[in-house]
Amino acid sequence: MTETAQTVVVSHPLVQHKLTLMRRKETTVAEFRRLLKEISMLLAYEATRDLHVTHMRIETPVQTMENAPVLDGKKLVLIGILRAGLGILDGMLEIVPAARVGHIGMYRNHETLEPVEYFFKVPGKLQDRTVIICDPMLATGNSAVAAVDRIKRNKPGSLKFVCLLACPEGLKTFHEAHPDVPVVTAAVDERLNEKGYIIPGLGDAGDRLFGTR
Ligand code: URA
Repeated sequence: MTETAQTVVVSHPLVQHKLTLMRRKETTVAEFRRLLKEISMLLAYEATRDLHVTHMRIETPVQTMENAPVLDGKKLVLIGILRAGLGILDGMLEIVPAARVGHIGMYRNHETLEPVEYFFKVPGKLQDRTVIICDPMLATGNSAVAAVDRIKRNKPGSLKFVCLLACPEGLKTFHEAHPDVPVVTAAVDERLNEKGYIIPGLGDAGDRLFGTR
């Protein structure tokens, strides 16, 4: 793992290997979907490392254990930015099945590259909850910033952003707007191109996940 104050790059070989397979243009939709789910489980492991645990008394087959640590899954809210964020949600929910789930619908205006919100539905009482916003590509950073702006209006207990790929431009925009929100990612690529794609990247994550190209 490589870490700065605000960005955690999960450099584990399993994550890096799966990411390389996802980047390859020959990778099929079915493989891409499976790999995104698998990587997201591994990103979930990192993104949830500071979740609060409580303790309970349990009976093992041998004796009573007084202080067995347990999570309160209901305290965790995963929010997917539609539509590619659904791929990350799938994997994270395998690891924390009791998490609550929200969705933000946002598309990128291809001319201005600015985000436009068209759907918003999240669980209530975010102030008592840990919120993790999921979107595979932190490219311009504009939709990530807008999603965090929107969620902050609901006053979450704590907030993180999880993505598969980031780039320096997107991270700069994001951290300038939200220096208090850590980003967990599998890689930080070289740059953003003039069309707003991450280079070398993996193409359009939504198209590759859903086969819409
Ligand atoms: N969104 C994508 O799906 N891919 C990119 O490279 C940038 C934004």
